[in-house]
Amino acid sequence: MRNRIYTSELSGHVGETVVLAGWVNVRRDQGKMVFFDLRDMKGMVQCIVLPSHAEAILVAKEIRPEWVLRLEGVVNKRPEKNVNPNIPSGDVELEVTAIEVLNRAETPPFELNTDTKPVNEDLRMKYKYLDLRSERMQKNIRMRDKVITFIRDYMHKNDFVEIETPMMTKGTPEGSREYIIPSRLFQGQFYVLPQSPQQFKQLSMVAGFEKYFQIARCMRDEDTRGDRQPEFTQLDYEMSFVTQEEVVAYNEALIIELIKTVYPEKRISQIPFPRMTYEESMEKYGNDKPDLRENKEDPNELAFCWVLDFPMFEKDDEGGVQAVHHPFTSPKDEDLHLLDTEPLKARANAYDIVLNGYEIGGGSIRIHKRELQNKVFELLGLNKETIEARFGHMLTAFEYGAPPHGGIAWGMERLVMLLQNEPNIREVIAFPKTGEGKDLMMGSPSSVPEKTLKELGIQLKK
Ligand code: AMO
Repeated sequence: MRNRIYTSELSGHVGETVVLAGWVNVRRDQGKMVFFDLRDMKGMVQCIVLPSHAEAILVAKEIRPEWVLRLEGVVNKRPEKNVNPNIPSGDVELEVTAIEVLNRAETPPFELNTDTKPVNEDLRMKYKYLDLRSERMQKNIRMRDKVITFIRDYMHKNDFVEIETPMMTKGTPEGSREYIIPSRLFQGQFYVLPQSPQQFKQLSMVAGFEKYFQIARCMRDEDTRGDRQPEFTQLDYEMSFVTQEEVVAYNEALIIELIKTVYPEKRISQIPFPRMTYEESMEKYGNDKPDLRENKEDPNELAFCWVLDFPMFEKDDEGGVQAVHHPFTSPKDEDLHLLDTEPLKARANAYDIVLNGYEIGGGSIRIHKRELQNKVFELLGLNKETIEARFGHMLTAFEYGAPPHGGIAWGMERLVMLLQNEPNIREVIAFPKTGEGKDLMMGSPSSVPEKTLKELGIQLKK
């Protein structure tokens, strides 16, 4: 038997007999002949079954959209007027000589050979594996992979090492509720899923790696919105011995190169990226993520900017103070004295990167000295015991030669959403969750067997 080739390779095989495999996209009967499009991971090709191939035409009359086929046929050049310039194999067609049905398919609950965006989203989520067959979704997921591959390469070329940090860990203060995992061996105790690898990346700096990165999964139990999911991915990185200027410059160079390589059709409206302080942004735009596009209708315009000098602290709902970024962020040298007098006025070495009105990343230069870190925890209203219990390991680590360090994390979904001109991040996640945090395909969250709860020492309230 011949080796299967892809639809994208057909132009190089005109006049030859080839084997293809894939899904039926649409079928059209025209008198005695049957036409259908076969779709594979590389694209699509028009297939023709002539009545002269008696066995094949019998099968062809049966086939329906989404059936899975293996085809044998001869590659023919299409007449000039029938060439479809929009698809890679639009200049050829397959004259089918044999059809093997590998699997049949039910009629899909919605059409897959067109954009599925107008379809009820719960239905798309329930049949995500079908939704993903559509051209737009295939493109989104494949482009996301291209972006991540580019970033991985770029980071490695610049001496960063990718380190996988634990998923089962302890709470980390990034400002949202956390998901917890009950421990079977230590009943009544819990692991916490990371909101970000923040503490581990800082500890990797103490460990002497100097340049860390990770395409990191993060979990946050917060209300889901268009640009938020309970589970998402960051490009997370950290560097030792760097200034804020160096982090900003590296970050900017990476983004510019990424756009140039993966999205050459896009235009960055201003290089270097404009910068403004938090105060300026709030005053001028009324928010800390201004949309600086000149033409909001232009799908190829990318308006990046930096927002700098965020305050260290803000008032929380209970009258206390909380960290604006997170408690590991360092105060500006010139504002250090304010920590003792007017901490709410102290500014941080913290920066956000904004794209077209979305915060796509945020980071800071960190505290690397025990005393200052302890002081910041105290300003956040934590008592000695709590500090020791929650962050003792960080304070201890800072006593063993912690280098100055800083970094940033980007929200990968937000970036890819904007690059793909999608309205929300669910469109660039293969298996997203609903606004209520449900996975309608898997049916999660779900109950677990009584036996499992018992093993964990958990009793549910009636
Ligand atoms: P921060 O909390 O600002 O910083 O997160 C960094 C970026 O992650 C993205 N993001 C999200 N994307 C999708 N769904 C969510 N629920 C969600 N939450 C955040 C945003 C955001 O800009 N550890 C620090 C980084 C650092 O200091 O280096 C952190 O996580 O695009």
